[in-house]
Amino acid sequence: MTVLDALRPRLPSPVQELSDRRFARHGLRLVLKRDDLIHPEIVGNKWRKLAPNLAAAAGRTVVTFGGAYSNHLRATAAAGRLLGLPTVGVVRGQELADRPLNPSLGRCAADGMRLHFVARSTYRDKADPAALARVLRAADAEDAYVVPEGGSNALAVRGCRALGEELAGQADVVAIACGTGGTLAGLAAGLSRDQRALGIPVLKGGFLTAETESLQRRAFGDRRGDWTLDDRFHCGGYARTTPELDVFADDFEQRHGVPVERLYVAKLLFGLVALAEEGAFARGTTVAAVVTGRPFP
Ligand SMILES: Cc1ncc(COP(=O)(O)O)c(C=O)c1O
Repeated sequence: MTVLDALRPRLPSPVQELSDRRFARHGLRLVLKRDDLIHPEIVGNKWRKLAPNLAAAAGRTVVTFGGAYSNHLRATAAAGRLLGLPTVGVVRGQELADRPLNPSLGRCAADGMRLHFVARSTYRDKADPAALARVLRAADAEDAYVVPEGGSNALAVRGCRALGEELAGQADVVAIACGTGGTLAGLAAGLSRDQRALGIPVLKGGFLTAETESLQRRAFGDRRGDWTLDDRFHCGGYARTTPELDVFADDFEQRHGVPVERLYVAKLLFGLVALAEEGAFARGTTVAAVVTGRPFP
């Protein structure tokens, strides 16, 4: 039981089978794990990561970090409003302080989040304890409970284990889009021995195997589960897109009536169609794609 349970999450989240010729013709089943339906405002992996952290905050102000369009900042702000918790968002980009808020930050502010803008170099240094302390002091949030960027700390990773456990017996391969790798780290630890996880990084750089391993070590003491990454589907990097990806995502929405979040979920589904086409999965495999978010209007 966590503080968020009062908000009546839809858990376990539904599993939906899709009929898609691009998979069927290779003898594959595609199912969606609809984490986007867990809660209307604290969507997808945000719920799984925030629930244990908000319990640990025990009513203290929650401070967290994100970019100008961060799904994580919006979810934290919404949770703060729904639970009556003060929240502070440290936003990357001092220059944004003098501009009108974009719709995503506007939503955070409307939900009561106090926004504190910092220079990109300051933001980059926030893992350093002294630099973090300076940011917290400047944000007037020294006693706050700190949730890292993307919400991925050991508590969050342990919270994401339930995602894997819910998929027992429902898929052979579970695929998920990755930012920090935190959701994959927990998911993989929750799968059973006959299942494997596949992460599709949306950032360019090839650093995520080490990051995900490190998150698993902090959460569980060692590497857990059977997981790999495929680094070929970031389409140029975070928030980058290609005309092909845009066409693909529009088409997927129309074919299946499922809203496709563009920063993460579109790249995951695009990658899975490409992998099915190149024969990466044996015939008879059931592939589950985790729908970790919903498009922000
Ligand atoms: C919709 C969505 N999917 C996936 C992710 C990736 O999660 P993680 O950072 O745990 O890898 C995020 C991260 O913020 C997200 O917003």
